[in-house]
Amino acid sequence: MDDSAVDLQLDRPHSARMYDYYLGGTTNFPADREAVSRVVTAFPQALIAARANRGFMRRATAYLAEHGLRQFLDVGTGIPTQPNLHEVAQAIVPDARVVYVDNDPIVLAHAQALLISSGQGRTAYIEADLAQPEEILKTSVLHETLDLSQPVALSLNAVLHFVTDDAQAYRIVDTFTDALAPGSALVISHGTPDFSDTLESAAGVYRSVGTAVGIRDRARFTRFFERWELVEPGVTLTHRWHPDAATVASGITDSESSTYVAVARKLG
Ligand SMILES: C[S@@+](CC[C@H](N)C(=O)[O-])C[C@H]1O[C@@H](n2cnc3c(N)ncnc32)[C@H](O)[C@@H]1O
Repeated sequence: MDDSAVDLQLDRPHSARMYDYYLGGTTNFPADREAVSRVVTAFPQALIAARANRGFMRRATAYLAEHGLRQFLDVGTGIPTQPNLHEVAQAIVPDARVVYVDNDPIVLAHAQALLISSGQGRTAYIEADLAQPEEILKTSVLHETLDLSQPVALSLNAVLHFVTDDAQAYRIVDTFTDALAPGSALVISHGTPDFSDTLESAAGVYRSVGTAVGIRDRARFTRFFERWELVEPGVTLTHRWHPDAATVASGITDSESSTYVAVARKLG
């Protein structure tokens, strides 16, 4: 696409580029890095937390691919980072189909990396707002790629804390839940203040640069799964969800993670 067609506001910190910097990516600029340094001053564990979140995404996606899921809907995708979700899924299920959704022009500008599917599978990208799930569910691109009469794994990783109003956040998940077939899966990761006194001040840095953030405690996080059956071990922290050897070896603490996660299946 023609990058000049959108104003990427490189002079302002931006949450997707800040997250890219946490992950060691190169799609970030001085304003993003300066904001990250303020986040890290408030919450020194931020880089560890972001990388642990990405590790959870990889393990949850692989788990679901190994347990029969062939279709994935990833909302709040972020700037492409190796491995992207479709690469994890298609390494296990080569014909897996993946739809990515983000509302950020900078993610769209880099979306090409998300569209390099395996030969047998398929990927697509939709620029849309999580706050309007009905619009996402109506798009022709989604229906050309996914069959909603069959199970879909919906990932909402590190994105629902940008929807600060509880009623709106629960309505979003309920709307997707209504649209998904039995056997579908729900994957959520979400920042929490439960293990650190300082994550809230890091959220304040985001607010100061114009990005609303609302981290949630365990009860408010668990509410997202009201209509779902949790997969073992239920609601936990990134590094505690089916940890692989590298995760165990990392020695990450609950405070460093400060991110609740869960994976659930939809009953028939
Ligand atoms: C912290 S990144 C998470 C990336 C990826 N899901 C992960 O967990 O590694 C959050 C992403 O959510 C996107 N996002 C935030 N609010 C959104 C909204 N209302 N609709 C769609 N995407 C949104 C941001 O643009 C950003 O790319």
